Amino acid sequence: MQRGKLIGIGVGPGDPELLTVKAVKALKKAPVICAPRSSASRPSLALSIVRTVLEEHKSEHEIIEPLFPMIEDKKALEKYWDGAAQLIIEKLNQGLDVAFITLGDPTLYSTFSYVLKIIRDEDIVVDIIPGVTSFTGCAASAGITLAEKDEIVVIVPKVDERLSQILEHGDTFVIMKTSRHTDLLEDIINQDERDKLIISVQNCSMDDEKVFKGFANDKKYLSTTIVKFRDDNEDNKN
Ligand SMILES: C[S@@+](CC[C@H](N)C(=O)[O-])C[C@H]1O[C@@H](n2cnc3c(N)ncnc32)[C@H](O)[C@@H]1O
Repeated sequence: MQRGKLIGIGVGPGDPELLTVKAVKALKKAPVICAPRSSASRPSLALSIVRTVLEEHKSEHEIIEPLFPMIEDKKALEKYWDGAAQLIIEKLNQGLDVAFITLGDPTLYSTFSYVLKIIRDEDIVVDIIPGVTSFTGCAASAGITLAEKDEIVVIVPKVDERLSQILEHGDTFVIMKTSRHTDLLEDIINQDERDKLIISVQNCSMDDEKVFKGFANDKKYLSTTIVKFRDDNEDNKN
């Protein structure tokens, strides 16, 4: 029997209308949907984004929801990643394609990358369908552009001394996972004397989206801060 293929699908930042046509087509025909969830008690966010598309699914399909908890213990995490990969491999070995859905884009800080590393060793066919990444969604919601001409955009998933080292070289900084950050972020950014625009977006493109000037201090998970130096673009809507 021919093994199924793994399809990593980016479902965008939240609004189902930001799903790509290609993602919708793949979701409507995948026999297995793999929707990672961060806790047994919390529904998968990626799954809620594709819910309406799955309701139009023509044939029977199975939804698997492996756990990817937000813990720091690397050894414990590897066990979860391996468990998820084995569950997926089981389905692929039955000849079923598995659509692994992930928030934003699968190539950027995504649970998909951990599973992909394990599955690649198994010589399985893998397709990746890109999604609208959260930070471009956030820039759009804030009504700003991220870069032009020779400007450098830096994506920061964790604030530490590396940020202070590269700060002077970048023009726009996208700070993701802001719930993890402490006052250190503000201290580092404020050390730079250039003019700056600081905008935070929470729950981008969702019904309860918030866009505001300044840093986000309330530890919301879906929260991104964009710091734009040399800003001559005040035409945002805030
Ligand atoms: C694990 S990363 C996932 C990134 C995702 N793969 C992407 O392409 O955007 C999670 C971080 O992405 C950002 N994020 C994802 N969705 C968001 C949203 N709807 N609004 C604001 N930030 C979001 C937040 O910074 C969050 O902590």
